[in-house]
Amino acid sequence: MKSQFDPSDVAAAFDQLFAQITALFPQDQYLNVVGIRTRGSILANRIVARLRQGGYTLVDHGVIDVTMYRDDLARLGPRGVVGQTRLDLDIDGKPLLLVDDVLSTGRTLRAAMDAIADFGRPSVLKTAVLVDRGGREVPISADHTGLTLANVPADRRINVRFRELDGKDGIFITADAPKPADGAVPAAQWKHKHLLGLEDLTADEINFVLNTADSFKEVSTRSVKKVPALRGRVVVNAFFEDSTRTRMSFSLAAERLSADVLDFASQGSSVSKGETLIDTARTIEAMGVDIIVVRHKAAGAAEVLSRTCRCSIVNAGDGAHEHPTQGLLDLYTIRERFGGVKGLKVAIVGDIANSRVARSDLWGLQKLGAEVILVGPPTLLPKAFESLGARVCHRLDDVIGEVDAIQMLRVQNERMQAAQFPTVREFTQLFGLTWDRFQRCKKDVFVMHPGPMNRGIEIQSDIADGEQSGILKQVTNGLAVRMAVLYLVSQASQLPD
Ligand code: CP
Repeated sequence: MKSQFDPSDVAAAFDQLFAQITALFPQDQYLNVVGIRTRGSILANRIVARLRQGGYTLVDHGVIDVTMYRDDLARLGPRGVVGQTRLDLDIDGKPLLLVDDVLSTGRTLRAAMDAIADFGRPSVLKTAVLVDRGGREVPISADHTGLTLANVPADRRINVRFRELDGKDGIFITADAPKPADGAVPAAQWKHKHLLGLEDLTADEINFVLNTADSFKEVSTRSVKKVPALRGRVVVNAFFEDSTRTRMSFSLAAERLSADVLDFASQGSSVSKGETLIDTARTIEAMGVDIIVVRHKAAGAAEVLSRTCRCSIVNAGDGAHEHPTQGLLDLYTIRERFGGVKGLKVAIVGDIANSRVARSDLWGLQKLGAEVILVGPPTLLPKAFESLGARVCHRLDDVIGEVDAIQMLRVQNERMQAAQFPTVREFTQLFGLTWDRFQRCKKDVFVMHPGPMNRGIEIQSDIADGEQSGILKQVTNGLAVRMAVLYLVSQASQLPD
């Protein structure tokens, strides 16, 4: 058997495949061609282009990423990268051709069929692969095949190369150790079993989470808003402090990843009988839990659990220390609004001293190249914040006209040591986003608030609800970001300690 096939062999295999496809699908019939990321998508592009050249006008093209549908996701080991699925197609009742470069075990095609079923019900589903190398583990076959390679030893890999990605077409039979899935980068891009804060992350890691969240955001646009990526895993939301957004969004995120989800609230639990945080966490973990999402009033609580428990720990807010997923969703929302974060000027205004959101935003924004201006009264914004790299300002009016985005913080009465400003009215006058101040902002300023809001205190109601407000977008994006975080820490937990 040849160990290498050159561009003319690839062209011949493609011709062979294309002839079979055109023999089956008439020219005047609608056809959806869906490629499996990454190289199946390139092959699908070529098929669609050739069909259109040949007079097929009713052809549409989509891309599917099957990572989250793989039944062998846990066995394959960490693979952080999830490509985006783009299936903006009318699938119901129309023929669909599912395309991949190589067919071997059959698990990828099987996962793709599961994924397609979440988008609709084609009238008929056919499969096309450039190379069938045998070695099936599940009873899946290709309806159309360009090249069949018989008797390829099980320890050999088939690597299809396409000029669009690799510069040159080719098919190679190699003895290489298995490489990551097409398009995947080794999980080294994300190695953290826990997410404790943004201070610990690099810019590349933060961007990696945000890019992963893009793929998860797409899931929420489907009619079936669920993928099986965390099937069989257990996620516990352990909230020792009140929450609406974070708790619900982590619950929904875990459910959309098909995890089993348990909600623990300290109220009504044995905490009232004196059980410690560590004993509570160990008790929860002993039930076979994979991820504990923890919110606690003590700074450092999540870190303590990460040293005590074997499962993954995700910090959902620890005292005034960090709230990393809020920081990530704020970055995601700013990136979505402006197309990037670098070079932007962002003000974080209000009760900085008591705010974990301010700290996570500060770390994240600076790492991604934004300039951060912290604004608040001296009692709520100690000079020490300058040592973290931020500009510190005690007069909102001095900076209001120069910022691209403004994150208004809640006045956190529950964390105040004593009266840290004379009256609420005075706070609003000096630091509130009032209508008068809003009119002195840049005309396209982006208004943010992590919530919950004190309407009429730190932000005027009609600004919070206005066109330049991103407050509900922050909530929406929180879901995708938290799906990405749960997925990534779960993948990293498979890495050796
Ligand atoms: N932003 C935020 O953490 O809100 P919750 O307290 O409602 O979770």
